[in-house]
Amino acid sequence: MELSKKLETAINEQIQAELYSAYMYLSMSAYFEDIAMPGFAHWMREQTEEEMEHAMKFYHYVVERGGRVVLHSIQQPPVEFESVLDVAEKTYAHEQHVTSLIYKLYELALAEKDHATAVFLQWYINEQVEEEDNTRTILEQVQRMGQNPQALLMFDRHLGERGD
Ligand SMILES: [Fe+2]
Ligand SMILES: [Fe+2]
Repeated sequence: MELSKKLETAINEQIQAELYSAYMYLSMSAYFEDIAMPGFAHWMREQTEEEMEHAMKFYHYVVERGGRVVLHSIQQPPVEFESVLDVAEKTYAHEQHVTSLIYKLYELALAEKDHATAVFLQWYINEQVEEEDNTRTILEQVQRMGQNPQALLMFDRHLGERGD
């Protein structure tokens, strides 16, 4: 059973969304470098790589199903942010948004009766639980620290230890 045109188009749009996520996190990484938060910058670079992997997993899936990968242009991510808290809020909100995109894809796979794609998408559904949990935890911790520079620097060191 070949991938339907509808699903092919929707997955290609999701490849774009994952690449945009990578681009946005890389921009956040550059912001953290600029404000001398190397741990946050490192965490965001690791996150960028994860999003690239999400995009490539979809890419290979389209190929495997005999579809055609079409790469769309990627919009410019935000350059400036107000604070660490601002980035943490935007990161969590973004992951919630991506979850809603994955859910829509899943619903489309079910509507198209494409069970292989539905099973494939379950990996992303689980991954989004983790993505939301990680970004929500960071947001809550940053909220608790408020503008305490000492606490933020300690947290920055902790985030610098992220290894994937
Ligand atoms: Fe992703
Ligand atoms: Fe993500």
